[in-house]
Amino acid sequence: MAFTTPGLSGSDATTVIDALQERLSALNDLHLTLKHIHWNVVGPNFIGVHEMIDPQVELVRGYADTLAERIATLGGSPSGTAKAIEHDRSWDDYSIGRDTVQAHLAALDLVYDGFVVSHRNAIETTGKVDPVTEDILIGQTAELEKFQWFVRAHLESSTGDLGHGGSTTEKGAADAVR
Ligand SMILES: [Fe+2]
Repeated sequence: MAFTTPGLSGSDATTVIDALQERLSALNDLHLTLKHIHWNVVGPNFIGVHEMIDPQVELVRGYADTLAERIATLGGSPSGTAKAIEHDRSWDDYSIGRDTVQAHLAALDLVYDGFVVSHRNAIETTGKVDPVTEDILIGQTAELEKFQWFVRAHLESSTGDLGHGGSTTEKGAADAVR
């Protein structure tokens, strides 16, 4: 690498860039998944959920932009193509097509479970060498966790239980609440 940000070694910059690239592909996959849900959700409460998702799409697209530009700032080259998503991801494509509000939100809750855990892992990895990147990821995670609460609030009972609690697959979660 020809340059990185002052005060960071080349090898530490590479560690951060690698972590950010995986999170960039995850964010790009997430905003596509959110639009897919925006288009495929049906049934009672359609409009509320259809419209709840678009601001999150914009937020997640903005987060992808932030991470891509952080990679460039550190001297790396961000990969933002569909192939990069396919290459970087360790998870499956979102598996629910046209379905009810409850089914999609239960599946989306599982998507956010995986996403938030991985963002938190990236906080740990980057925080050891670059607190500036760590700070960016912490801010993103707080907002993503807040949106997950919005999702869960639609599924929560008066006793605080989730109908799909314990489900380990998107299809299983959707089946549990449909
Ligand atoms: Fe739309």
